[in-house]
Amino acid sequence: MRLRLALRAAARSAAKVSQKISAPEIFRRSYSQLHPQSERPSFGIAFDIDGVVLRGRTPIGGSPQALRRLYGDDGTLKIPFLFLTNGGGVTESKRALELSELLGVHISPVQVVQGHSPFKELVNRFEDELIVAVGKGEPATVMSEYGFKKVLSIDEHASYFSDIDPLSPYKQWKTKQMLDSMYNSKEVNPRCNVYSDRVKGVFVVSDPVDWGRDIQVLCDILKTGGLPGKEKGHQPPLYFASDDLEYQAAFPSERLGMGAFRIGLQSIFNAVHDSPLEYTSFGKPNPFVFKNAEAILSNLVYNMYPHQEFAMEGRGHTFTTLYMIGDNPKVDINGALKAGRPWFSILTRTGVFRGKDNDTQFPADLVVDTVEEAIDHILRKECSTSSSAF
Ligand code: G3P
Ligand code: MG
Repeated sequence: MRLRLALRAAARSAAKVSQKISAPEIFRRSYSQLHPQSERPSFGIAFDIDGVVLRGRTPIGGSPQALRRLYGDDGTLKIPFLFLTNGGGVTESKRALELSELLGVHISPVQVVQGHSPFKELVNRFEDELIVAVGKGEPATVMSEYGFKKVLSIDEHASYFSDIDPLSPYKQWKTKQMLDSMYNSKEVNPRCNVYSDRVKGVFVVSDPVDWGRDIQVLCDILKTGGLPGKEKGHQPPLYFASDDLEYQAAFPSERLGMGAFRIGLQSIFNAVHDSPLEYTSFGKPNPFVFKNAEAILSNLVYNMYPHQEFAMEGRGHTFTTLYMIGDNPKVDINGALKAGRPWFSILTRTGVFRGKDNDTQFPADLVVDTVEEAIDHILRKECSTSSSAF
């Protein structure tokens, strides 16, 4: 119930925010020059990243050439698409730059939706409160960019408490001394006093790095109402960017994801605490993510045709088909199924799913080998049903 209410509120404000997104002027101009009225696309595409377009940092499945087909000869976007990943750990602008480099096409930050992107809808609630951001990459920078003012990464937060991780002396990869010199800010950092300011919210932004230390420190924060080492208190809200049990990275078989970490934390917390862990997970397969993606794609089309009348009704451009190309049946295909029309799911065999036929539990509308094959199918289908020159 709590989850549903939070998601409904987030969906309402996401719809509002997405209508405000404005592409840079040059982006807008190039779109509008390219598209006369008759060619307004009736379809859009959402790409999963890990296991569909990348494995680690390596492009897979012919992704660079497949994506290039969505641009005109002059490099301007021809078909509205975005990346819909449960991954993250860096800001959307940094991720857009990285994807542009790896895939060889220009990706705008508005085309990047990460697992933690919906966290920005919670700024009003936590703007001036102390929050802790967990995960690989730059979780605190991500949250600060969203507008949260008092953010500490779990690394920094833990570094203020001597002996909070009794195993840290055995961890050769990062010692407490290194963390101290990294932050070197105990005296000069006036943002908060971690010994008296309670942590009011915990955000798992990306895959946690040091599971043992993080589970220990999170149990401390969550059990004590935000003051490690003190008496028990009311659990502060805990948010996960996604709940992927496994995902496809560079290693040949699947890796444990944020959902696996959540299970670990939950089992341990419930064993050491009298009331069960409360949490909210965002990311696919949450239908909210797909509604939000639809609103963003609609906004992209609006930027391509700024002078045209749109059937507004609060939703902007109406799509006949929105394609979700994913590798994980439980997450990508399940999400598209839950979201319903106009979503059409395409499952690739380059990641978590390796089956010969379709997934039995969450069957996709179409199964293909690679993302290149998926794009080929989409463009052939859309070309034959539309008079426009896609
Ligand atoms: O950590 C990344 C992972 O959980 C999934 O990423 O792109 O497959 O949604 P993606
Ligand atoms: Mg994936």
